[in-house]
Amino acid sequence: MDRHRRPTVLIVTATLLCGALLMAASAAPPLRELRWTSRAADGVRQMTRRPGECLVRPSEQDGALSLEIGRAAFRSPLVLGGAAARAGLSCDTCHRDGRGNSEFQFPGLSGGPGMADVTSFHFSPHRGDLLDDPRPIPDLSGPKALLKIAQSPESGDLERFITGLVVEEFDGQPPPDRVIRGLADYVRALDPAACPTKDALITAGDVLDDADRAVAAASRALALKDGPSALVMIGSARSALGRLDERYTALPVSRQALSEADRQLLGASEAVRTGGPDGAARLASWQAEEPRLRARLKRDEGRSLFNPTVLSAAVQ
Ligand code: HEC
Repeated sequence: MDRHRRPTVLIVTATLLCGALLMAASAAPPLRELRWTSRAADGVRQMTRRPGECLVRPSEQDGALSLEIGRAAFRSPLVLGGAAARAGLSCDTCHRDGRGNSEFQFPGLSGGPGMADVTSFHFSPHRGDLLDDPRPIPDLSGPKALLKIAQSPESGDLERFITGLVVEEFDGQPPPDRVIRGLADYVRALDPAACPTKDALITAGDVLDDADRAVAAASRALALKDGPSALVMIGSARSALGRLDERYTALPVSRQALSEADRQLLGASEAVRTGGPDGAARLASWQAEEPRLRARLKRDEGRSLFNPTVLSAAVQ
């Protein structure tokens, strides 16, 4: 009897073990964003190509700064706060490049791919309802007539909607006024007529550009004596460095350079937070050293998870 049962026990144990290993593997995909990408999707394609931004740049200086602040805040998980920030979700996760995300699927939060329940308890005790109420993620770069929230700057509707989204739906801290205005200006500046015709490969340079632009916006906010907005910008730049770091885990020299760059930004944010005098100088020295970081990342890019072939092998 025993002799017959043993193999079964072994098989069951082996199956459980494999299951556990598979679960462990699926619990830690090489890129965090893969966790909220539909399993039916081509994950490698989704992680290595971007739809492209449909952005119209305003000509006057103030408008340009507001848009840059909004653009960086849109890409920073810290703006959402709460569980969403801890999970690493930003506006850009659902509205990729300011558009939609037909492959978004978050366990317990989405219906089908491309849907999200933004009133879910998962993210906020304020608006959480117990209903499973996923809605399609709208394309913010689609025709304005198809969008529900009025976008005229005079009405202030978009600002109110975004504040409600952050504070109530995602349980974040109310962002500084300049950041809310920036997010609204960014959404307003999205225009279907400005959409690129094709998607494009995501490069390390693109992600570093996000960090650069956030640091530049931080310096300008600091020059306006708006420390709180500068801190949001520095947080956005650091999260871009985090997205780079994930792609270079197997490349220690690049990782070291990224961690050094991040340490400098951390120093800058501490200086800004404590009102120290050298916040602006630290940001300037980060900018001065950025070309070296860029060259370093470029050298390793072919072996990083930016390369679709390398990423394919890593997700197997
Ligand atoms: C978890 C996914 C998710 C995240 C993160 C997210 N959104 Fe959305 N967003 C949605 C969904 C779903 C809707 C549609 C809600 C509805 O129909 O009630 C929406 C609606 C909107 C709208 C209204 C569009 C209209 O029809 O006028 C705006 C503007 C918007 N989001 C901006 C943002 C900004 C800015 C952020 C970051 C602060 C953000 N979203 C973060 C999923 C998301």
